Amino acid sequence: MSGLSCEHIMTMDDLSAEDIALVLDTAESFKEVNERRIKKLPTLRGRTIVNLFLEPSTRTRTSFEIAAKRLSADAINMTGSASATVKGESLRDTAKTLSAMACDLIVVRHRYAGAPQYLAECMDAHVINGGDGMHQHPTQALLDLFTIQREMGRIEGLTVGIVGDICHSRVAGSLVPALRKMGARPVVVGPPTLMPARPDVLGAEVAHTLDEVIGELDVAYMLRIQMERAEGMPFPSLREYARFYGMNSARLDAAKPEMIVMHPGPMNRGVEISSAVADSERAVVLDQVNAGVAVRMAAMYLLLGGAESAAAA
Ligand code: CP
Repeated sequence: MSGLSCEHIMTMDDLSAEDIALVLDTAESFKEVNERRIKKLPTLRGRTIVNLFLEPSTRTRTSFEIAAKRLSADAINMTGSASATVKGESLRDTAKTLSAMACDLIVVRHRYAGAPQYLAECMDAHVINGGDGMHQHPTQALLDLFTIQREMGRIEGLTVGIVGDICHSRVAGSLVPALRKMGARPVVVGPPTLMPARPDVLGAEVAHTLDEVIGELDVAYMLRIQMERAEGMPFPSLREYARFYGMNSARLDAAKPEMIVMHPGPMNRGVEISSAVADSERAVVLDQVNAGVAVRMAAMYLLLGGAESAAAA
C-alpha cells in the first residue's frame, strides 16, 4: 500500500490536497537530510528504480537519479539514444522488458502525452511522469509548491502569474491545477497565440499583458518559449516578446517588493527573463532545483510504501 492515495503519479489529478500536503511535509524531512555531510538513508535499499528519459532533460533526470541514490535504491538511467528504442523497439516492449527485470518504479519522460499512462498499463511497476509532451509534469509542480511554501510561508491565497508559452507548457498544465488545489489564484499571462484554444479549461484567470497584472502578483512564474514545439513564429520577434512579456528590472520595480520570480529551466536569458533578474535575490530558480531532489525523494518514498518499505527491509 502506498503512502499516497494513488499507485502512480501521472498528473496532478492523481493527487488530492492531502496527498500534496503529505509530499511537501515529507520533502521537508528529506531537505534536512540533503543538508547533512552524509546525505544517504537506507530507506529504499533493495528497490530498483529506472529513469527512462526519451526526451532531453538536465534537472529532472539528474534530480531523480540523485534522489534514488540518496534513498539507497538501485538507480538505472536509460536515455533515448542509449536504449533499444533507437532500434525500433516499441514502448510496450520496453515496458515489458523492464517489468521482466522486476523494476519497482519507472520515471518516464516522453514526447507524447499519455505515454506514462500507457507504460503503467503494460507493467506492474509504479510510474512517475517526468514530463509527457505538452501535457503534464507533476513533480515539477510539486517542487514549485514546495518552493513557494518555503519562500512565502504559505500557498493559500497567493496570486501566481504563469507567464509566456502556456499552450505548449506541461509545467503550466500541472501547476495550474496544483495551485488551485492548494487554494492559490493562478493567472496565465501571454499573447493569444501562446494560449490554449480554451484557456478557461485550465482553470486559471487569463491576462494578455504582463503590465496589467504585475502589481497583483505574489509569484511571477516565467516560462520558456518552446520553439521546438511551435508551428511558425507565434510573435513578430524575440525582442518584441521580451519587451511585452519578459521579466526585467523595470517590471520588478513595479511589482510588490516581496514578489518572487520562478522559472522551471532551462532559461532563455534576455527573452522571458533578463540576466539581471535571473541573477537577483528575487529569483528562486536554484532553490527550485534544490527542492527538486527532496520532493522527488518524497514522491518515490511514498509511492514505494513509505514507512512500511523501511520496516520491511
Ligand atoms: N524543469 C525541467 O523539466 O527541466 P529539464 O528539462 O532540464 O528536466
